[in-house]
Amino acid sequence: MTRIRLDMIFLLLLLSGRSLGASPSFSLDYQNNCFLKDGEPFRYISGSIHYSRIPRVYWKDRLLKMYMAGLNAIQTYIPWNYHEEFPGQYNFTGDRDVEYFLKLAQDIGMVVILRPGPYICAEWDMGGLPAWLLNKKNMVLRSSDPDYITAVDKWMGKLLPMIKPYLYQNGGPIITVQVENEYGSYFACDYNYMRHLMQLFRSYLGEQVVLFTTDGAGLNYLKCGSLQGLYATVDFGPGSNITAAFDAQRHVEPNGPLVNSEFYTGWLDHWGSHHSIVSSALVAKSLNEILSMKANVNLYMFIGGSNFGYWNGANSPYAAQPTSYDYDAPLTEAGDLTEKYFAIRDVIRLFNKIPEGPVPPSTPKFAYGAVKMKKLQTVLDAVETLSFSGPVKSMYPQTFIDLNQVFGFVLYRTKLPVNCSETPLSSPLNGVHDRAYVSVDKSAVGILERNKVITMNVTGNAGSQLDVLVENMGRINYGRDINDFKGLVSNLTLGGVPLTGWTMYSLSIDEAVSQGLLGHGSHPGTDPPQPAALSLPTFYEGSFIIPDGIPDLPQDTYVKLPNWRKGQIWINGFNLGRYWPARGPQVTLFVPANILRTSAPNNVTILELEGAPCGSQPCIVEFTDTPILNATVSSKPTHHRRLFVKEDLL
Ligand SMILES: *[C@@H]1O[C@H](CO)[C@@H](O)[C@H](O)[C@H]1NC(C)=O
Ligand SMILES: *[C@@H]1O[C@H](CO)[C@@H](O)[C@H](O)[C@H]1NC(C)=O
Ligand SMILES: *[C@@H]1O[C@H](CO)[C@@H](O)[C@H](O)[C@H]1NC(C)=O
Ligand SMILES: *[C@@H]1O[C@H](CO)[C@@H](O)[C@H](O)[C@H]1NC(C)=O
Ligand SMILES: *[C@@H]1O[C@H](CO)[C@@H](O)[C@H](O)[C@H]1NC(C)=O
Ligand SMILES: *[C@@H]1O[C@H](CO)[C@@H](O)[C@H](O)[C@H]1NC(C)=O
Ligand SMILES: *[C@@H]1O[C@H](CO)[C@@H](O)[C@H](O)[C@H]1NC(C)=O
Repeated sequence: MTRIRLDMIFLLLLLSGRSLGASPSFSLDYQNNCFLKDGEPFRYISGSIHYSRIPRVYWKDRLLKMYMAGLNAIQTYIPWNYHEEFPGQYNFTGDRDVEYFLKLAQDIGMVVILRPGPYICAEWDMGGLPAWLLNKKNMVLRSSDPDYITAVDKWMGKLLPMIKPYLYQNGGPIITVQVENEYGSYFACDYNYMRHLMQLFRSYLGEQVVLFTTDGAGLNYLKCGSLQGLYATVDFGPGSNITAAFDAQRHVEPNGPLVNSEFYTGWLDHWGSHHSIVSSALVAKSLNEILSMKANVNLYMFIGGSNFGYWNGANSPYAAQPTSYDYDAPLTEAGDLTEKYFAIRDVIRLFNKIPEGPVPPSTPKFAYGAVKMKKLQTVLDAVETLSFSGPVKSMYPQTFIDLNQVFGFVLYRTKLPVNCSETPLSSPLNGVHDRAYVSVDKSAVGILERNKVITMNVTGNAGSQLDVLVENMGRINYGRDINDFKGLVSNLTLGGVPLTGWTMYSLSIDEAVSQGLLGHGSHPGTDPPQPAALSLPTFYEGSFIIPDGIPDLPQDTYVKLPNWRKGQIWINGFNLGRYWPARGPQVTLFVPANILRTSAPNNVTILELEGAPCGSQPCIVEFTDTPILNATVSSKPTHHRRLFVKEDLL
């Protein structure tokens, strides 16, 4: 009896392609134009999710919602700069625990398409490359430049051995691994670089793993992006001519599975441009056509999440992306179900069986209400506290990287060399990267902004203190300008003459906020009564208590900053990101419940750069239960990366 049963099990295993003892396999089937998983034809319907944009406690919830939509795969990037912020200092713990993320995906029942870069684009600071690469000023990023290759080899020597046990053939979830990212859109077109990466990936991951590339669906992109030995796939959005797009892939890969590695469910935003919206009907229609062609597809994004802290990227000509990476995706920034989610699920249902059982509900949101804010020190008053490493002096200004600063703010200080009356202070080479808050003798006088405002007037006596607080608003993540130095990257001139004799303070604002080092101002409550006037960059704080007696608190919330202008906001020392309601379109920031406490008052800290409402209007921030990401923007729309179009930057 037992014997017979075992035989039957053996037979069943054979039929399902997994004979006893046979190891799992994943490969390309060029005869039948598909993938083979354990010897059986396999087609993936995948969704993009970036663990770096979602708090770890929510990974499982988001992955489960993806699974319940009928997806059998997920795709994720690994941002190098998130794991190696300083050379040789690796972080794979907490929110950066990519191994845990991979295990969760596997436990839930999905395979993984991994995109470890080294460059990832992703609307992420510098496309995922660490800013410290810029220590070598002339390095050609994403090329065979020996210094770049040395750094890449070292990083991959750390990362890839860690990833290897998670490959499908080793019992893990990873079915395919992408090499580089849309390399055909980059000017360098360095085949030796791509060949080097291929050999590097092969040497660590073995000969079995399916390595692939992704490029725009046009021969001009595929020309420099594809390489013999790497399976070429394409990306394109809804409304594209799908036949023409896959024809482009077929030009390079006459046989094998059709793959759209980035099918856009929505699109990115920029400060000052309208919020992108893509209709569910259009997404559903194109998805249906793609799946009808038996093609594999990855929906980019399935959930976008948030650019917490300073992690957002920017496009060129300089336009920074906001804190929210909602993307108009089928799951919102907060992981909530949308009409688009169900529209996509209904299409997938026509091709695959949807798992049984309820879809996990959207997480509840709570409106904690208004929180009064009190003024703390100005940045200028707090400079000794904020400058952990002390001042650096030099004749001409140095960049963030010269000063060993990656993100945030650097204060540049000098004296007016002559008496000035409406004298132009200029950055003739457009070298303010990216925004500078200028004051004379501790009085705010104006703002310089990369590409937008390169000159302003100053008035003051010879010997007056000139302070220029420079904000890094996020490094360019796409195109030839990704070597994006921050700070004053060229001289400021006064009346046409370069200013000299600078003292520079690298500011450790995040450390100071989380260690509670900021004190009260010398003149609290002295905001100008006229709301339009500029104020010095100033810290504010407030706190709120999570109410008792309501079950299931704390819950997620959104913070709104009525009549505040531009700055950075922390809750309990966690850097939520940038706010800029004055420019839009993002008005509220997502506040995940895991950063809130019920046992103690929750501390809100704000660095307001231009002027708080506190003189004339209520000095509050407000916690609401509804996001606003689509405020009307005042400036004319700029066409940075038009919907689904990636400019040809060759
Ligand atoms: C590593 O990253 C986690 C998650 O962001 C953070 O909590 C932790 O402090 C970091 N560790 C170090 C040593 O920086
Ligand atoms: C789509 O592209 C194919 C192949 O290039 C072409 O034959 C067809 O006319 C195009 N369809 C539309 C609607 O433009
Ligand atoms: C600058 O202005 C101060 C105060 O108005 C005046 O005393 C001084 O002579 C001026 N210096 C020059 C070089 O004009
Ligand atoms: C600077 O002052 C000059 C002379 O008063 C004026 O013509 C010019 O418009 C001012 N420039 C700016 C940027 O305010
Ligand atoms: C500033 O100007 C000086 C003198 O022209 C030049 O040597 C220096 O390289 C410039 N510095 C920057 C950062 O552009
Ligand atoms: C908020 O700040 C107060 C005073 O510094 C501190 O006692 C409290 O623990 C902080 N709350 C949290 C949740 O960190
Ligand atoms: C923003 O989106 C909401 C919800 O879809 C809508 O009701 C509102 O009219 C939109 N606002 C603007 C300014 O487009």
